[in-house]
Amino acid sequence: MLSYQHTYHAGNHADLLKHIILGDVVTAMQQKETPMFLFDAFASRGIYDLHSPEALKNREFDTGIGKVWPLRHANAPTGITRWFKHIEAENSDGSFARFPGSTSLLASMLRAQDRLAACDLHPQEFEGLRNSFKSSRQLALHKRDAFEALGALLPPKEKRGMVFLDPSYEDKSEYKKIAQSIIHSHQHFRAGVYVIWYPLLPAERHKELFQELKRSGIRKILRLELDCGDNFPDMQMHGSGMLIINPPWHAKQAMQTSLHWINEKLTAGSGTAYFGWLVPE
Ligand SMILES: C[S@@+](CC[C@H](N)C(=O)[O-])C[C@H]1O[C@@H](n2cnc3c(N)ncnc32)[C@H](O)[C@@H]1O
Repeated sequence: MLSYQHTYHAGNHADLLKHIILGDVVTAMQQKETPMFLFDAFASRGIYDLHSPEALKNREFDTGIGKVWPLRHANAPTGITRWFKHIEAENSDGSFARFPGSTSLLASMLRAQDRLAACDLHPQEFEGLRNSFKSSRQLALHKRDAFEALGALLPPKEKRGMVFLDPSYEDKSEYKKIAQSIIHSHQHFRAGVYVIWYPLLPAERHKELFQELKRSGIRKILRLELDCGDNFPDMQMHGSGMLIINPPWHAKQAMQTSLHWINEKLTAGSGTAYFGWLVPE
């Protein structure tokens, strides 16, 4: 049963990390002219209304975009400026009320030669996707189970691609399920760049994801993480991280710079940032 709705959480500290790093990865991949396929497997609705009762219920955006928005005109690393510009483009009134999610960010980055597929199974979320984006030759929207879609859409005809896995982890078994589906996808599409987001929660179930992937034999898995410590005591999720399989070489410096900027601005540097291999080359 799908009950998770991202609007309750949109714009929080984890969204900041995931969207900025995602932008860094795609930008680095686009240094090559060759076409690529982007797959947003757990897309949600693409754009979130931060004035909605859902978003205002816990105001999680105060821990993320709300904190950094006043800094949008200051000097910042390229990846941060790109992300601010994208939010500005969605809001003509100078606010961040229309908060772009992963599909919006990826759609804005498509070059003429690239394709994007976005998938969500939740009826309301999918309806949101359909209202925000028009299907086209370049953009396909799927109301479909992401785990099934991974098998169906990979490998892409372009032979180059980035798969973004951002599940809700509603079900505890999802950490292992994600690992297993990546292991399966990787067998068919070894060259793919896989970007996996995970939350840091007291139960520490993300370690199950790590263990499964370490055992799989897959190499080149980068881990980056921001533990915000006790900066956001009202939230159970005290931080989040991302695993990047086959990280583009050019993205490493950008991601490291983004990670440190985020830590500095969200926690005044009191959080713990980690950047290193989970499994080296
Ligand atoms: C964390 S949200 C995604 C947020 C989005 N990636 C962003 O950054 O804006 C997770 C989404 O996955 C969807 N979802 C959960 N299980 C799914 C499944 N098996 N197949 C497709 N979508 C699923 C949920 O409906 C939810 O909208």
